[in-house]
Amino acid sequence: MKITVLNGSPRANGNTATMVQAFEKGATEAGHEVSVIHVGAKKVAGCLGCQYCFTHEGTCVRKDDMTEIWKVLNQTDLLVFASPIYWWEVTAQTKAVIDRLYAHALVGFNFNKIALLFDSGAKDVYDAPISMFQSICDYLKWENVGTICIPNMEDKDSMKSSPMLEDVYKFGGSLSNVILLPSYFHPLSILPTGESWTKLAGELNKLRRPAADES
Ligand SMILES: Cc1cc2nc3c(=O)[nH]c(=O)nc-3n(C[C@H](O)[C@H](O)[C@H](O)COP(=O)(O)O)c2cc1C
Repeated sequence: MKITVLNGSPRANGNTATMVQAFEKGATEAGHEVSVIHVGAKKVAGCLGCQYCFTHEGTCVRKDDMTEIWKVLNQTDLLVFASPIYWWEVTAQTKAVIDRLYAHALVGFNFNKIALLFDSGAKDVYDAPISMFQSICDYLKWENVGTICIPNMEDKDSMKSSPMLEDVYKFGGSLSNVILLPSYFHPLSILPTGESWTKLAGELNKLRRPAADES
């Protein structure tokens, strides 16, 4: 499947980048196509709340680096948010992209699976971003397929010696069984029940792309 990782750290070669490399290695070796976008170095402004997108098929009125990010997201099956913790939250660069996802709130997203990779200096600093993503998933009917949090990242190269890098690598390699729903499964649509659900489930199963380890 196509996986996109958004690295929201402004540091190109910091701890988050090292964590992302381990994930990318595991996922690539498992047969996935991985794109890493260094969001921390992109120019993505905040959402204006103008709702231009609601009447223009999800096109945002702002013309900045989010335009090229959308081109990748529109081909993505699984979106991974990788961010250091800044003041008990994801970085402002990551949050700007999250806010701009609002442009597709009505038209829907190509992906409905996410994963989270966080790192920080201290332990127990992840409540706010985990709560935010849980609420987003509940609202948009996305599934979080896994969260990894790595504390004790005091220095720029702390991650290089972290034993948890192996877990991140293994996590990247474990994603072959993620079931993909087709893009017409609109996140804000009302879930069918009873007979119609059984019918839809059958359709989804036919459309489901085989996992890498299925023949
Ligand atoms: C502006 C700023 C705010 C931070 N806030 C926190 C924080 O609230 N809690 C924490 O544990 N670490 C905090 N940190 C430490 C980083 O999360 C940590 O060092 C991380 O590994 C940096 O990732 P990077 O090398 O990819 O930039 C902060 C660092 C910076 C620069």
